[in-house]
Amino acid sequence: MMVFFIKCFQFYNTFLFWLWVNLADAAPGAGIDAPGRSYTPVAYSIGTEPVINGLVKYAGGPLKLDAANPVVTLDYGANVAGFPFVEVSSVSASGAQIELKYSEPFGGLKEPWSNGPFLYVNGLMNSFRTETFNVSSTGPTTSFFIQGGQRWQTITLLSKESITINGVGFRANVDITPINELPGSFSTSNDVHDGVWGLGARSLDLACVEAKSQPSTWEVTKEGALVRGQYPAISLRAVGFKNYEMSFSTKIVTGGVGWRVAGGANGGYGPYFVLTTGGPKLLSTSPLQLRPNSLIAGYGFSIINQQLLPSAPAQNFDLPNAVADNEWYRITTAITSTGYNISINGTHAVFVPSEPFKPYINPGIGTSALTDGTFGFGPFLNQAAYYRDVEVIGQDGSVIYTNSLTGDDVYEEYGVAINPRAVCLDGSARDREIWIGDFVHTARMIAVSTGRYDYIESMIDFEFDWQFLDGPGAGLVPMQAPMGIGKQYRAALYPLQFGQTDYHFFFLVTIGDYYTLTNDLDLLSKHWNGTKFLVETLISRYLDTATNLFAASDAFWFTAQNTQHATAPTALFVIALKKLVDIAQALGDTETADFYTTLSQTISKAINDQLWSPALGAYRMSLDRLGDTALLATAFTIRAGIANTTQATTGIQKLSDLFYQIGYKDSTAIGNGPGTQLSPNVQGFLLESLFLAHIQLNVPASVVVPVIKNLLEVYWPHMINQNQYRTGSSWEYLFPDGSPGIGLFTSLNHPWGGAPTYIYTDFILGVRRERNASTGEAGWVFDPVWEVVEGLGLTWAKGKMPLPGGKGWIEASWSGEKESTEMKITAPEGVKVEVRQRGGAKRRELL
Ligand SMILES: *[C@@H]1O[C@H](CO)[C@@H](O)[C@H](O)[C@H]1NC(C)=O
Ligand SMILES: *[C@@H]1O[C@H](CO)[C@@H](O)[C@H](O)[C@H]1NC(C)=O
Ligand SMILES: *[C@@H]1O[C@H](CO)[C@@H](O)[C@H](O)[C@H]1NC(C)=O
Ligand SMILES: *[C@@H]1O[C@H](CO)[C@@H](O)[C@H](O)[C@H]1NC(C)=O
Ligand SMILES: *[C@@H]1O[C@H](CO)[C@@H](O)[C@H](O)[C@H]1NC(C)=O
Ligand SMILES: *[C@@H]1O[C@H](CO)[C@@H](O)[C@H](O)[C@H]1NC(C)=O
Repeated sequence: MMVFFIKCFQFYNTFLFWLWVNLADAAPGAGIDAPGRSYTPVAYSIGTEPVINGLVKYAGGPLKLDAANPVVTLDYGANVAGFPFVEVSSVSASGAQIELKYSEPFGGLKEPWSNGPFLYVNGLMNSFRTETFNVSSTGPTTSFFIQGGQRWQTITLLSKESITINGVGFRANVDITPINELPGSFSTSNDVHDGVWGLGARSLDLACVEAKSQPSTWEVTKEGALVRGQYPAISLRAVGFKNYEMSFSTKIVTGGVGWRVAGGANGGYGPYFVLTTGGPKLLSTSPLQLRPNSLIAGYGFSIINQQLLPSAPAQNFDLPNAVADNEWYRITTAITSTGYNISINGTHAVFVPSEPFKPYINPGIGTSALTDGTFGFGPFLNQAAYYRDVEVIGQDGSVIYTNSLTGDDVYEEYGVAINPRAVCLDGSARDREIWIGDFVHTARMIAVSTGRYDYIESMIDFEFDWQFLDGPGAGLVPMQAPMGIGKQYRAALYPLQFGQTDYHFFFLVTIGDYYTLTNDLDLLSKHWNGTKFLVETLISRYLDTATNLFAASDAFWFTAQNTQHATAPTALFVIALKKLVDIAQALGDTETADFYTTLSQTISKAINDQLWSPALGAYRMSLDRLGDTALLATAFTIRAGIANTTQATTGIQKLSDLFYQIGYKDSTAIGNGPGTQLSPNVQGFLLESLFLAHIQLNVPASVVVPVIKNLLEVYWPHMINQNQYRTGSSWEYLFPDGSPGIGLFTSLNHPWGGAPTYIYTDFILGVRRERNASTGEAGWVFDPVWEVVEGLGLTWAKGKMPLPGGKGWIEASWSGEKESTEMKITAPEGVKVEVRQRGGAKRRELL
């Protein structure tokens, strides 16, 4: 999920300023819990520009760059992540400057900012996708910052004398296990499916990070906070401040210093000031450079536009006096009604008028007034500076904030603390935030591939740890938490990062899925109060009791393009309630079980009464959109048990209204065109519903197979079969031509797009958990969905399903035709699997 651009899908050319800094050898990440190994390229080519064809195998030999052939293209074969490094074996006495560039798609290598920068949140990684190393001697140079995901890299020699590199790669910050070594596996007679299974599995290895594996991007020292060029991080203690005067002392290490005032709580959107010195600059390939001894004032995310996220055109001012590196200065910014008055060491320097920023005010992201909001610190690309002794004076002249920026408290207040927990992020490079709704697919993918059930537990613990127990958000859990913020500051993120209402519903589904998968009541009983509190909050805040459908003025619905009284989110809540009934019963909380059961029946009836349209032959999208159908309205009413066989059948047939070129749109309210986004996240939910419609509602295979076949054999393979985009992982969006659906900005490592991974294991291999309707117990079944298997023309499948608690795996295979099928299964002692044979033959149980 990436919320900012949902409604503002536009490209912006980004040709602005570009500098770089090299503070490379500061032992980045020393002492973190990360694997000790490195990821190295598999192929390379040396020439004058990035190339994709004709690469040769890289075996670690010397790479010589000189003025005639200054560029080496490096291909890692699939996405990798970590701290970039080069090992230099020969460099001239005058040294050399090399520019490193990282990209998920190949095309990023040809852009000045690669497939970034990512200037809207500090994700504990480099906000920029390029950096210059100033190499003066042989040996290793390592970046201070993580790069969270890239298949491609270039190194460009910017200085004249040649350089020889005898080692290059990424010091790992995540542990990428080769697909064939995971505890979970899947393969079939058609290897297209094997590849699609692997997309989700690999995406997890990059997007799920161990506790304490992603170090801070700030370095707090006795001299103050040393901050290298990155997206500015804001104080979460000051989000309610307005009309103040903020001062700090700074010593610029290289190039310049940057800060904000009047910034929004959600990442700091607002004014941003960058001050440059007259000191030495590193070389770069950018066509635009910041002028020395000047102040550049922007508004929005940065002083540049980045991909989809616009910023006000930057204003440039010359400084009245030159500013030098390695000297301390005291910089004061006074917020006035007409602008920002900046002085340096008590002398007036620049007045920045705020009038030109007005059109860029965006209360959804920043604050609603140019005078209101918090402050923050972060130099621009290729700069670095120390910051200390922050003091804020309020409107009445009193001191309202001080911080020396020399203590460890700084990290959590500014949201740049090393990640305290194991968490799964939405994207490994862009969108490095904890989106709990998107985790609903991730959790299921973990179960069938990496077997890292501990990540699911950690995410559930995290959400309840952050749950508000009182205040305006009482009961809610975060939907989009950043990694580095201290829990004590979470109220500053309310309501924005608690407000994607159906993401709470998805979290409840994840709790239910976790129970189905593990039977682990210890964790769930610990959080049962919190779970009930969340449910109660969602009902009282968002359920419209006049209709028994969900609608509220402060509710936002990802699953219904934000329309109220919508089928999909309301049905999603029923899915969640039904799962929670199982937990309530297991915990002996019959009162809650009865309440949830009755409520789910009431809501189901409300959906059938008000939102089923016989004329459409499908559920309407919402009461606001009576004439439209929506993919998730069909998918979730099936999964919730709201749709009957006829409704499911015609609903699936009506999906043809949503089909566009290679896949299915979210709803008929969305037009057709080259920019129409086709979501693997949304279609992933559809996939499961198609199987459930067939096995639970007896919807004929002839109805579901064509859709399944298109999704698995046409839509998803676009993530595999285009070399220029392939990363080995599932993507965020696709365009109808099969290319990444947010252009260069698309995350090409997004677990939310990897649902087929669990669909294959559950329904094609056929090893899954099912709850016995009479006993209520969940157990393992080996039950391939034969008619779909036949429809896909598969003659064999084999694979492994990891068991919770590191207790090994179930290994299963089947082969043969309808009349003579061989099914084999082995499981650790004590694990019971009910085997359902093909053609309705008698069942047998394996112990
Ligand atoms: C690059 O490194 C050399 C040697 O350490 C140093 O003299 C030079 O100032 C550096 N250049 C920049 C722009 O930092
Ligand atoms: C600026 O003021 C600081 C004290 O805040 C002082 O240490 C420093 O020398 C001054 N710098 C210049 C260049 O005057
Ligand atoms: C800015 O501050 C200076 C003093 O540093 C003052 O003389 C000037 O009037 C202020 N400008 C505005 C527009 O407030
Ligand atoms: C849940 O809440 C009840 C009533 O407030 C309380 O008695 C009980 O101890 C709580 N249980 C847990 C596990 O927090
Ligand atoms: C399914 O629901 C529709 C709409 O309520 C109803 O007309 C139809 O009779 C139902 N079909 C079955 C088999 O119950
Ligand atoms: C449910 O459990 C009962 C009792 O163990 C068993 O007889 C029955 O076959 C099970 N039903 C299914 C659908 O597996």
